[in-house]
Amino acid sequence: MKNLVYTNGDRMPLLGLGTWKSISGEVYEAVKEAIRTGYRHIDSAAIYKNEKEVGQAIAELIAEGVVRREDLWITSKLWNDSHHVEDVLPALEETLSNLQLDYLDLYLMHWPVAIRKGLDFPRKPEDMIPLEEIPLLTTWEATIPLKENGMVRHLGVSNFNIPKLKHLLEASSEKPEMNQVEMHPYLVQKDLVNFTREHSIHLTAYSPLGSGDRPTAQRDGLPVLLQNEVVEKIAREKNVTPAQILISFQLSRGISVIPKSVNPRRIRENFEAGRVVLSEEEIKQLEDLDAGMRYLNGGVWVKKGSPYTLQSLWEE
Ligand code: A2P
Repeated sequence: MKNLVYTNGDRMPLLGLGTWKSISGEVYEAVKEAIRTGYRHIDSAAIYKNEKEVGQAIAELIAEGVVRREDLWITSKLWNDSHHVEDVLPALEETLSNLQLDYLDLYLMHWPVAIRKGLDFPRKPEDMIPLEEIPLLTTWEATIPLKENGMVRHLGVSNFNIPKLKHLLEASSEKPEMNQVEMHPYLVQKDLVNFTREHSIHLTAYSPLGSGDRPTAQRDGLPVLLQNEVVEKIAREKNVTPAQILISFQLSRGISVIPKSVNPRRIRENFEAGRVVLSEEEIKQLEDLDAGMRYLNGGVWVKKGSPYTLQSLWEE
């Protein structure tokens, strides 16, 4: 399995298991299946509400001697309701306790968005806290001690655009080592890829398969990525599956990728994508599908009366 190498030499397996939308009762088996298959990178987050099951599966496999903690790469994320300085450490402590771990390999600020403490999602405009009140820099700086005291090995962000990354790079002594964002052939993110390469920030692609089980799938009318003609054609020609093409697309660009599955057959199929080699011409055909199209556009943060807008999230 290919790795991303961090400046201190730590290696993160490029391909990981996504656990967003993996419900309790399913994610436990999924993590076990994944690790037995050979996955060594699990992506989780407090808001997925399933870290206890993820942790239980990991703990059992470690106890059985199937895997060692030091051979796993575990990522989690700080939820938007814990951006106040005093909420950051308790949020990480809860995640570590749920995961039954004493450190994380990577901890990410989940969104450049703050909401009132105790909330999963806003119900009214007042639930949103403007960034002027809790600047991203303040929250970012509050995560630095977590690295210094060994609770996390690496720090990063998620859903950050270029100006927001620039701001952290300019204003903080600690640089984000990772930005996890939505990425797939409909959202190639060329500018972000170029910018992060220039500044040695790694990228992770979430929703690489088009997130067919996203909450808005039934009503948003967006095209089904796994059924795209070009993706299907390349898959047929190589005698592999469309999902394997989409995963291989990110791997071939040196971008970490975290397809979610709770199905044993698909968990194994996705892992096998590590063997698929795409030609430059095939990569170009996939890049040409770029439509700047997001399956997850952060619409939940920009409802009427919110201080956030789609423009401020993605295009400022
Ligand atoms: P399931 O969990 O039942 O396998 P994304 O990673 O882009 O968020 O996509 C996740 C969605 O894609 C889930 O609905 C997941 O369903 C499905 N999925 C995962 N792997 C595959 C695959 N190899 N082929 C088809 N669908 C897949």
